[in-house]
Order: sequence, then C-alpha cells, then structure tokens
Amino acid sequence: MTSTAPRAFYDSQYHYEEDASRPDEKRIRRALRHLQPIEGRDFFDLGCGAGWAARLAKVDGRAKKVVGLDFSRTGLLHARRHSPQIAWIQGDGTALPLADAAFDRLFCNGSLEHFPDIDRGLREIARILRPGARLVLIVPNFYVKTEQPMEFRTHYWGWKRKLETAGFLVEKTGIDWGPPVFKNANLKRVIARTIGKILSAIPFMQYQFIFVLTRA
Ligand SMILES: C[S@@+](CC[C@H](N)C(=O)[O-])C[C@H]1O[C@@H](n2cnc3c(N)ncnc32)[C@H](O)[C@@H]1O
Repeated sequence: MTSTAPRAFYDSQYHYEEDASRPDEKRIRRALRHLQPIEGRDFFDLGCGAGWAARLAKVDGRAKKVVGLDFSRTGLLHARRHSPQIAWIQGDGTALPLADAAFDRLFCNGSLEHFPDIDRGLREIARILRPGARLVLIVPNFYVKTEQPMEFRTHYWGWKRKLETAGFLVEKTGIDWGPPVFKNANLKRVIARTIGKILSAIPFMQYQFIFVLTRA
C-alpha cells in the first residue's frame, strides 16, 4: 500500500484545476484510438486524475461500463463535477478494490510510474482484465523529471521487459510528444517540455511511450 505523503501532494499541490479547465483532449483522443473499438466494452481509467480519458471513453467512445480510479480526492472531485454519470473510485493502484476479470479496456496515462511498486501495479492490472483485453499504458522515458514525489523512469527496453515479464504482449508502441509546452506555464516546465519535444523526434528518445498491449 502507498504511504500518505505522495497522496497529500496530489490532494494539495497537483495541477488538477488546470487539467480540468483546459483538458488536452486532442492528445487523449489520439491515445484512445489505440483502444478502438471502445463501444460496448467495459473501460477502466487507472490513475484517472481529473478524469478526461474516462469521460471521452463514455461520451465519444460509448463504452458500456466506465470506471475511473485515483487515490487523490482532489482529482476525483474534478472528475465527479464534469461527469457524475461515471463511477469514480478512490483507491490505490497497487491494491485495486475491483473484481478479477472485470474489464476489457484499460487506459493509464502518466500514472503507473508514480506507484510505489510498479510490478505490483502491473499484477493488479492483469488481475482485473479479461484474457485478450487491450490496454494502453503511457509511461515516461528515462530523462523525464516532473515535480511529482515518486517517479520511476527507464528507457524503452526497460519498460518493455517489465511489461512482458508481467505477462503482457506488446502489440505496438506509439509516440507521445508530451504535454503542450505552455500548459501550466512556468519557465522551468516550458524549457523542459521544449527539450522533450525536440528529443521526441529521435527514435526511442520520445518524451513518453504509448505501449499498446494485450493481456495474454
Ligand atoms: C500525472 S497524473 C495523471 C492523471 C491522469 N491520468 C491524466 O492523464 O491527467 C498522475 C496521477 O496518478 C495518481 N496516482 C499516483 N499514485 C497512485 C496510486 N498509488 N494509486 C492511485 N493513483 C495514483 C495521482 O493521484 C495522479 O492523479
């Protein structure tokens, strides 16, 4: 289980306000395309934050059941505000309060790397997915550093090995160019994001990897 310190950071300091008022819908939609068809499927957004991916899966994707989970109350407050029709759960990604084999689509954007135990998080993901389920995990490259308290980073091959060891088949890997340069504008972030965009043009140096996976 997670300590309460990282959760306190997300509850009081993380930029959900900004995420909720200026969602990066284009970027999320692009990543969600890898999970098509979503219509009629049971969809889970792990580490959902302000909840935009879950919302898009419900409203645009017409998923049947949609559940978003995060351990931050503040993130979920925003999510509930814009989408009260979705089931939002406050919970820990390494000990999911969910039944086995409950979903056939899973999306996790920028959250897994912040879990205190990545392998345990992956075991939980495998447990709640049905065999043959498709998932998208978006994880950072080794050089990405954010202000968040706990952050696991590795290169493409490090992530691939971890995911395959956990029993997932890597179908393909997409490029995520990272957040918009001027979102949450702060000089340090603007510089870091500009560098990230430049590096993303080099193979295996992208800001984040979009792993499209199947649960065996
Ligand atoms: C960078 S944010 C990404 C949020 C959202 N997926 C998005 O795309 O905007 C990371 C999220 O992971 C959540 N998180 C971190 N550790 C967690 C854990 N152990 N269990 C559940 N959620 C966690 C945080 O509360 C935060 O909302």
